[in-house]
Amino acid sequence: MPEKDSKQTLSVITADVGGFIGHVSSHPEILDTAKERLFNARGKGVITDFHVLRCGDDIALALLHENGPASGSVSGLVWNTLNACTDAASRMKLYRHEDFIAAGDKGSAAKAGVSKGAKGPTLAEMEFAERQSEPVIVFMANKSAYGSWNLPLYKIYADPFNTAGLIMNPRMAEGFTFTVLDVKDGTEITLSTPADAYLLLSIIGITSRYVVTSVHGNRKQDITAAVAAQKLAAPGETGPFTVSRDNPVLILRCQSDFPAVGEALEPFSLPHLVRGWMRAAHNGPLMPVPFYEANPSRFDGPARLIGAGFQISNGRFIGPHDMFDDPSFDEARRLANRITDYMRRHGPFEPHRMPATELEQAGISALFDKAKDRIKDKLSR
Ligand code: F6R
Ligand code: MG
Repeated sequence: MPEKDSKQTLSVITADVGGFIGHVSSHPEILDTAKERLFNARGKGVITDFHVLRCGDDIALALLHENGPASGSVSGLVWNTLNACTDAASRMKLYRHEDFIAAGDKGSAAKAGVSKGAKGPTLAEMEFAERQSEPVIVFMANKSAYGSWNLPLYKIYADPFNTAGLIMNPRMAEGFTFTVLDVKDGTEITLSTPADAYLLLSIIGITSRYVVTSVHGNRKQDITAAVAAQKLAAPGETGPFTVSRDNPVLILRCQSDFPAVGEALEPFSLPHLVRGWMRAAHNGPLMPVPFYEANPSRFDGPARLIGAGFQISNGRFIGPHDMFDDPSFDEARRLANRITDYMRRHGPFEPHRMPATELEQAGISALFDKAKDRIKDKLSR
């Protein structure tokens, strides 16, 4: 099988253009609209191939192209596609938050609030020379926040109890370099495992502030993981790819010098706790599901995860294979449901409910304001 000489870029953009029903799922017409737009553009200089995915009420446009990261022409195609999807969503009056609808009565994605602040589209991308065989997995989550990939990424690239290759494949034993973004200060640090493992854990365990954005192999400094995350946009800030607080996507290149497909999936046998769920205000388990079960309905959750596997061949996607359509993940789903029951019984109490400092959607401060006349000093400071 010949290797493709030129570098190519895999870009995955997720957006919420309107939910069906409420925030639970996506309407097939939205997906068809995206497919039609991208089909018409394929092979005409902007993209070499595409695939449209969905998880919950979010869609993802997976694009292969040779324009490099942050390409203006790719961005133009993406916005045109999202505009068409948003128009279709508006025609069906699919669900968007009132703020989005008020801003979007003309219908385009930007005007409809898809570009606005915390709810903007999210971009994950990586540039690489196609290997002789190039297996990749696009993970897409819904109702979970940024930082959700920190735990699985540590296990995949730094924990031999998860990844046998770290102690069995000398090329992997050279370790991996993690790039970590501080979403509060907008600064970045790179840490290399195994040497920096403890420091890395002490930082990325704080998922509300630090986000692993990419991982490279130490041997060749070749990229193996890319996450959709950037500095958080200020409220009201707009731009071509405004940072989103949710809709996280993770792209992994697997096998050979990188963890095997099975090692990349193994961390998700634990439905670990993530921030998100109802009103982006609750902690709960991340449940790995096949494509058709990615419809978070109970208390708008619990958060869902899909894995779309592809072989990339000469700039084309071969796939997807539905990676969690496997009974070996049944126990993870069962455990996620048990955790869901347990967490839900806490109702409005922390730590099921997220700390007040992290609540982004809830109108809590407006409620508190109503009681301000009744607040008296009690402790001397
Ligand atoms: C979480 C999410 C939903 C909504 C909830 C209320 O990210 O999207 O849980 O927060 O359904 O939605 P609104 O305020 O639009 O009625
Ligand atoms: Mg959504």
